[in-house]
Amino acid sequence: MFNFFKNSKKASIEEKNLIKIPKHVAIIMDGNGRWAKSRNLPRIKGHYEGMQTVKKITKIASSLGIEYLTLYAFSTENWSRPTREVNYLMSLPEKMFDSFMPELMENNVKVQVIGDIDKLPINTKMAVNNAIKKTENNTGLKLIFALNYGSKKEIVDAIKNIAQDCIDNKLLVDSITEEIVSKKLYTKDYPDPDLLIRTSGEQRVSNFLLWQLAYSEFLFVDCAWPDFTEKEFRKALFYYQMRDRRYGGLNEN
Ligand code: IPE
Ligand code: IPE
Ligand code: MG
Repeated sequence: MFNFFKNSKKASIEEKNLIKIPKHVAIIMDGNGRWAKSRNLPRIKGHYEGMQTVKKITKIASSLGIEYLTLYAFSTENWSRPTREVNYLMSLPEKMFDSFMPELMENNVKVQVIGDIDKLPINTKMAVNNAIKKTENNTGLKLIFALNYGSKKEIVDAIKNIAQDCIDNKLLVDSITEEIVSKKLYTKDYPDPDLLIRTSGEQRVSNFLLWQLAYSEFLFVDCAWPDFTEKEFRKALFYYQMRDRRYGGLNEN
């Protein structure tokens, strides 16, 4: 059996060499509320700390040469939370881009969004659109926020769009392929995630990228998102590098 820890007398896992960097990492940033609760703080303080983690992980992802980082920031189901919490979450893009823009520019990061942006409050939409505009010529890491994102809605919208193309005689039912479906999703410009990380110990996908995660590697880590450090991230990437991706075939190395 392969021994993970061979030659590891000195280097701890997170210090090991990363030689197989995933192109696209997607993260379900979970556990902000519990992080706050365990410290007797209001849940929104957890979201504020979570925003600091977004900044840190973005910088590391960029320096490691990850090409796409997709962060689940607000789901179509999160509207069911108390108004105060929803309002605070909706104010975060403005708060974040205000302070983070110089570093995003310095690191050549391009901000993108997936989700139903039209339904966001006007200030949130403006903050997001500004960040997209300001960073549009950057050529480094693509930082993609999933905002008011729901995978089932994304798939239903794609189906409607394809059906309409068939009605308009732009497409034949028999020529619908997986590629055509992929091109109708919000993620049409991105490769599928290689690695999905979810923090806070929950082991579910919560309506995130259901189509796109078909062959992604999943990693569930126990720490809450505000506690997700560079060390935790490097550890996750190291575990990814040890995975054997077979895509249904055989790997007889
Ligand atoms: C993740 O943290 C942030 C969002 C879902 C917006 P949570 O707010 O879900 O934190 P927990 O899961 O309640 O601890
Ligand atoms: C998933 O976390 C959504 C985001 C991280 C934005 P949730 O906390 O909303 O998911 P559930 O309710 O535990 O499945
Ligand atoms: Mg949660």
